Amino acid sequence: MENLTFQMPRIGDAAPEFKAVTTQGEINFPSDYKGKWKILFSHPADFTPVCTSEFMTFATMQKDFEALNCQLVGLSIDGLFSHIAWLRSIKDKIEYKGMKNVEVTFPLVEDISMNVAKLYGMLQPNESTTKAVRAVFFIDPKNMIRAMIYYPLSLGRNFDEIKRVLIGLQTADNFEIALPADWRPGDDVIVPPAGSCGVAQSRMDGEDGITCHDWYFCTKKLSKEDVESRLGK
Ligand code: BEZ
Repeated sequence: MENLTFQMPRIGDAAPEFKAVTTQGEINFPSDYKGKWKILFSHPADFTPVCTSEFMTFATMQKDFEALNCQLVGLSIDGLFSHIAWLRSIKDKIEYKGMKNVEVTFPLVEDISMNVAKLYGMLQPNESTTKAVRAVFFIDPKNMIRAMIYYPLSLGRNFDEIKRVLIGLQTADNFEIALPADWRPGDDVIVPPAGSCGVAQSRMDGEDGITCHDWYFCTKKLSKEDVESRLGK
């Protein structure tokens, strides 16, 4: 089999650059969106049911992502005219779970050459040699890859989780804390580890505002309002 696994970007890497034709005109990624968060995501193919449900969900949530200073960019290994016809079909014909007349206004990249899919490790040949898997890249305002999620062809993504990851990344950056399992805004957050035996002891002695489960696992309150006031930055 031809080697189709060209590279897998990693967390902390600069987002690979590409120029592409999209349903919103030509783009230079990620430089056109410097200063914004970006979610670059791939889907296997146009005119397929799981992808259609995903696009309707993402487009319906687009305002939430814009409020978080985040630009959505989609991609599949299809041509521009296929993309245009599919997005028109979604808007004109598809009614699903209360969503209808859904207009997809974020760019959808044509990648018939597979160049971008290969650049981002979206083509995973043991899953498919012709269709991108369902990849999601979270890219920060400095154009660094901060998180990635990959799903197989058969499973639609959880868009609440995609939004939670974006909010979590922004919150961890803004408040210099870490976030525990299943964290949501309003839940307690994890303070940086004690850097000395003295700090470890004072935390265990009951440092103000900090709750320790043991010296290495300490949390503090962070209100939903405080989180929301800093999101999108
Ligand atoms: C879908 O989006 O429905 C789909 C695409 C490729 C393979 C299987 C399902």
